Amino acid sequence: LLLAALGVGVGVGAAAGASAADITRADFPAGFVFGVGSSAYQIEGAVAEDGRKPSIWDTFTHKGYSIDNATGDVTADQYHKYKEDVKLLHELGVDAYRMSIAWPRLIPDGRGAVNPKGLEYYNNLIDELLSYGIQPHVTIYHFDFPQALQDEYKGLLSPRFIEDYTAYADVCFKNFGDRVKYWSTVNEPNIETIGGFDQGILPPRRCSFPFGFGCDEGNSTTEPYIAAHHLLLAHASAVSLYREKYQAEQGGRIGLTLLGWWYEPATQTPDDIAAAARMNDFHIGWFMNPMVYGDYPPVMRKNVGSRLPSFTDEEAKRIKGSFDFVGFNHYVAIYVKADLSRLDEKVRDYMADAAVAYDMPFLKSRNQFPFGFGLAADFMTSTPWALKKMLKHLQVKYKNPAVMIHENGAAGLSDPSGVNTYDDEFRSQFLQDYIEATLQSIRNGSNVQGYFVWSFLDVFEYLFGYRMRFGICGVEFNSAARTRYQRHSAKWYSSFLRGGELRP
Ligand code: NOJ
Repeated sequence: LLLAALGVGVGVGAAAGASAADITRADFPAGFVFGVGSSAYQIEGAVAEDGRKPSIWDTFTHKGYSIDNATGDVTADQYHKYKEDVKLLHELGVDAYRMSIAWPRLIPDGRGAVNPKGLEYYNNLIDELLSYGIQPHVTIYHFDFPQALQDEYKGLLSPRFIEDYTAYADVCFKNFGDRVKYWSTVNEPNIETIGGFDQGILPPRRCSFPFGFGCDEGNSTTEPYIAAHHLLLAHASAVSLYREKYQAEQGGRIGLTLLGWWYEPATQTPDDIAAAARMNDFHIGWFMNPMVYGDYPPVMRKNVGSRLPSFTDEEAKRIKGSFDFVGFNHYVAIYVKADLSRLDEKVRDYMADAAVAYDMPFLKSRNQFPFGFGLAADFMTSTPWALKKMLKHLQVKYKNPAVMIHENGAAGLSDPSGVNTYDDEFRSQFLQDYIEATLQSIRNGSNVQGYFVWSFLDVFEYLFGYRMRFGICGVEFNSAARTRYQRHSAKWYSSFLRGGELRP
């Protein structure tokens, strides 16, 4: 999500390893899931239809905070085109579709009455997928928090969120759990909290920095930690509920999804090596440590001190082990260096607490991002070795959890002339590199059980609107019909899924 905001390099993938030529999907363990993904606000459209009410993303985009005043009002219009989309998924040959449920479509006020039209839509979509043998892997909450609850009690900042979220998850389990066997409670709580409560560049735009593009109000010193704490408690509460009430009967599995980019030291000095380790703790350990060991990483306790909330014994017990698998969204490596002087700052934010700086010269000024750079075509550097390091880290530090790679993909730009780019061999290459890295990690003992390309279609890409395209299938956004078409990468992925070689 914040890749360009963080200025992730420019240029296309590293050269292919020759060994990949003869890898096929039969080399992956039996039952390994290959899929593609999307999320409700990014793909559905129909934001004011059939009883859906606004989320904090509707509010944000309608204030013009995304590039070109882009919104998710119509986007790829999957709400009306789901049948066509499921057919396309079938043509691609995927085992699974990673999708999310829009909380403000299912429970428009955030709590209370369930919207029958919302139920109907997700029932139809799930049934349509299953009629083609495609498994829905469902994210319960993917950033689109109901505006009503934001207004009522400041959303994630209030512990009331935990109760409302659990009730919403209950509605999902109860109505869809007979058919949905993979649940992710929340998507990227580590990015939602940093973007929304520390940097203030994402809704609900809270931060205490006078950024060039402004944020509304907030307190970066405490709020990201509070919001994350509540997200963890909400996640654990939904998992307990699922385990107590549904899992035995429905037989599904549940986890959560983190953004797992990998922090790499800018230089091999002991200080920078320690800085990268710290940042991995702040970013991944923030959620993994409580889920595996029952508390935040020691370095966070030390550096954040009393600003980091505590778990009661009962909460710690509930959080520890609260997953059957963990989803990771992985894109690239990010280089960091130590900046220990930040620990002397009186008012500290997340990066200051981690005492690191990104090793990206153009990020020196906060005013510079997120716009104005990073939007070069094919801007994602391919760093498949970083995925391997990340998976190794999980293996060693977190007892080798079952992992779903819930997102991996590469962005390109739509052609400035408005003509779409069909030829995305850079993306096919990128995906090949990462699928090969996944297989190598499995062979080295990592417990990866699935891989999902982000994204199925071109969708609304948050701050970057429709300029940044992740789809292996394109969408003609300038036509009312929102015509879909398969790119090179879609055709390549499909042939791999049908038994072809990884690198044809
Ligand atoms: C992370 C998010 O989960 C997804 O919504 C977003 O579009 C992609 N990464 C790309 O930034």
